[in-house]
Amino acid sequence: MSQREQWGTRAGFVLAAIGSAVGLGNIWRFPYVAYENGGGAFFLPYLFALLTAGIPLLIMEFTLGHKYRGSAPLTYARLNRKTEWIGWWQVAIAFVISTYYAVIIAWAISYTYFSFNQSWGEDAEGFLFGNYLQLGEVGSLGSLVPGVFYPLLLVWIVTLGVLFKGVKKGIEVANRIFIPLLVIMFLMLVIRAVTLEGAAVGLDAFFRPDWTEILSPGVWVAAYGQIFFSLSIAFAIMITYSSYLPKKADINNNAFITGFSNSGFELLAGIGVFAALGFMATASGVGVEEVAAAGIGLAFVVFPQIINTFPGLNGLFGVLFFGSLVLAGLTSLISIVETYVAGLQDKFKISRAKAVAFGGGLSAILSLLYATQGGLYLLDAADYFINQFGIAVAGLVSVIIVAWFLKKLPSLQSHANNVSDFRTGLWWKVCLGVVTPLVLGFMGIQNLINNIRENYGDYPSSFLLYTGWGVAIGVVVIGFIFTAFKWDKNSLGVPTDSQSKGAE
Ligand code: ALA
Repeated sequence: MSQREQWGTRAGFVLAAIGSAVGLGNIWRFPYVAYENGGGAFFLPYLFALLTAGIPLLIMEFTLGHKYRGSAPLTYARLNRKTEWIGWWQVAIAFVISTYYAVIIAWAISYTYFSFNQSWGEDAEGFLFGNYLQLGEVGSLGSLVPGVFYPLLLVWIVTLGVLFKGVKKGIEVANRIFIPLLVIMFLMLVIRAVTLEGAAVGLDAFFRPDWTEILSPGVWVAAYGQIFFSLSIAFAIMITYSSYLPKKADINNNAFITGFSNSGFELLAGIGVFAALGFMATASGVGVEEVAAAGIGLAFVVFPQIINTFPGLNGLFGVLFFGSLVLAGLTSLISIVETYVAGLQDKFKISRAKAVAFGGGLSAILSLLYATQGGLYLLDAADYFINQFGIAVAGLVSVIIVAWFLKKLPSLQSHANNVSDFRTGLWWKVCLGVVTPLVLGFMGIQNLINNIRENYGDYPSSFLLYTGWGVAIGVVVIGFIFTAFKWDKNSLGVPTDSQSKGAE
């Protein structure tokens, strides 16, 4: 069996894990999800999900990858032959995400370029939907939009180029360059934003709790979905990344560093975005609720408007914002695509180059669907469903199976504790074995009922059937199909050098 690739250093792994976690989810998604789900009141379910599910699951995934040394499918197959499908299901979720994730990075590349002379003009909304995306009808694709296609090509060239070079020379090097650059750019942006006139008004709108929705299942599932998406858990990434750790590697501490860095960045993004919104609301003499667009337009409509209103160096502010989105997005996309590159390599015994070309190539081709005139609707539905009925459900199912059916929490915990700087105690098992299944399970079922009763985003049922429900169910089916292929007979033995001292 050929030697599995490894990270060069501990910092290399931690940077890559943070690079994966900090992404479009933090800058593009978090501010509007938080705002739409109760503003300040959203922090309660958010923090609850982070502490009782996010970090505990991150520890579980780091442990699984480190102990079983495989891509998600191989890891789950080694854990128990009957659970391989969970690994493929998660890989399929990652595959779907990569197809639309790349497109948002492409928009951000275009907007970085537009920032120089604010080409969106006075009507940023009309520009985005009309001139740039050339938005057509719901349910019809229309033609390919060249303004999205070319930057999309660039996104795939960079991502697949990094992946071709491998774990240490490609992924690790890319993160070492992109992450420090991102942090510098983003800090400059946030500092500028909070020193703008009216920033406090925006922050007040962001943090002011609206408790009326706090018991709504949708809010809780949104919080879990956001935490899982943002921490890159339950879609194969962290298992894959930790499978490249050397034998002697910390797990618990690295998980806390990754989790807190990610949420810190997310909070910073919320502060930056809402400070800027407060500035614009004040400058135009209206309330923040009138300028805070819902949904995915927040970054691409409101930010251009803010940049227009800026007192000076408008272009620089735009480049900092959209450039940050590009960098954060690329380091995450690399990790998302790596999940199926690793899965294909492990199962079909093909070279990295072939896995990148085949898996990445297919995702690149499918991503063209979202670069069409009808692409935005597809993207919106796929993103919503893959989060609420893909990631959140995959997270729930993996926890229930590992904790309740396989009863593996004690052995995984002792594996992690044996190699870590500090040990976790009873709370870890209680969070994963009891709290997460109960809260997420209950909220998830309620949310499912609500979504069956009422169509997401008022889209027609026929459209949601194949873009939303179809995608969420399709990834499970793909999971079983890939499981049906046979493994090479030497693949499934757990590596003898795995740090399983004291475990099992
Ligand atoms: N964790 C990545 C993000 O937040 C996928 O965008």
